[in-house]
Amino acid sequence: MQLVTEDNITDLAVRRWATARDPRLAEIMTAFVRHLHDFAREVRLTEDEWMAAIEWLTRTGQLCDDKRQEFILTSDVIGLSMLVVQLNHRFAAAATPATVLGPFHIDGSPGLAFGADMSDGVPGTPLYIAGAVRDLDGSPVAGAVLDIWQADPDGAYEAQLDVDEARLRAKYTSRDDGSYCVRTIAPRGYSIPMDGPVGDLIGRTDISHFRPAHVHFLINVPGYEPLITHLFQQGAEYLDSDVVFGTRSELVIPFVPHGPGPTPDGHTSEVPWLRADYDFVLQPTSQPG
Ligand code: BEZ
Ligand code: FE
Repeated sequence: MQLVTEDNITDLAVRRWATARDPRLAEIMTAFVRHLHDFAREVRLTEDEWMAAIEWLTRTGQLCDDKRQEFILTSDVIGLSMLVVQLNHRFAAAATPATVLGPFHIDGSPGLAFGADMSDGVPGTPLYIAGAVRDLDGSPVAGAVLDIWQADPDGAYEAQLDVDEARLRAKYTSRDDGSYCVRTIAPRGYSIPMDGPVGDLIGRTDISHFRPAHVHFLINVPGYEPLITHLFQQGAEYLDSDVVFGTRSELVIPFVPHGPGPTPDGHTSEVPWLRADYDFVLQPTSQPG
């Protein structure tokens, strides 16, 4: 009979979880138990603290539904989501880097033509994002679907406004020469949801709870690694303190101001507008980074 002591409990628990029939599950669970026991020893976890953590996790789970995922938000604000992205998307240096998906992507955004307006009447400064989708060798990638979404100028996505129809999101397709052109409105930086357990915890720190102004892109083309990324506005607030660690210098680009006049979609704007140029470079699936 093996009696339990403070010294042997970790080995006993690790050996028990090593019996998982799936070897990967055994690897993950044994490492998880070992690190969690080490953590409890390192901070000398009290029973009150253990119970506070259980209550926090319970509230986090109770807040999750098909529109809100407080566990993913937890992973985001401790840098785990971005670390997992980096571990799993080691692209070539010339390829556009990946960043976090975030909770606001939805399937089934409407398809729009080259230069069509995805802001659909939401007021804001017109922003054109134009460029091409390319291979690592610079050749154009035609027919790439660019699935795009962003917050409104108040920093809200439709899930936060209880709006059911798609808002500030669309799919554009690259043309034969790889070119694409998006017409939208300038995004603003915004706060992550602060009315739940993640907000309670962040409120007890000096952590900024904002994300810098950005537009999300998901580009899926057969033969290439799916690319989930953002473009950030150069000079935006919070670039160096993104609460979800999603900023990468390669993705920060100027939004250049223009006066009224001709725009990249071949039309004319009567109001000042912004232009951001960016070529997305995709990583072929067969080519490790
Ligand atoms: C977003 O950019 O939409 C986002 C990402 C992570 C957490 C919250 C929001
Ligand atoms: Fe966002």
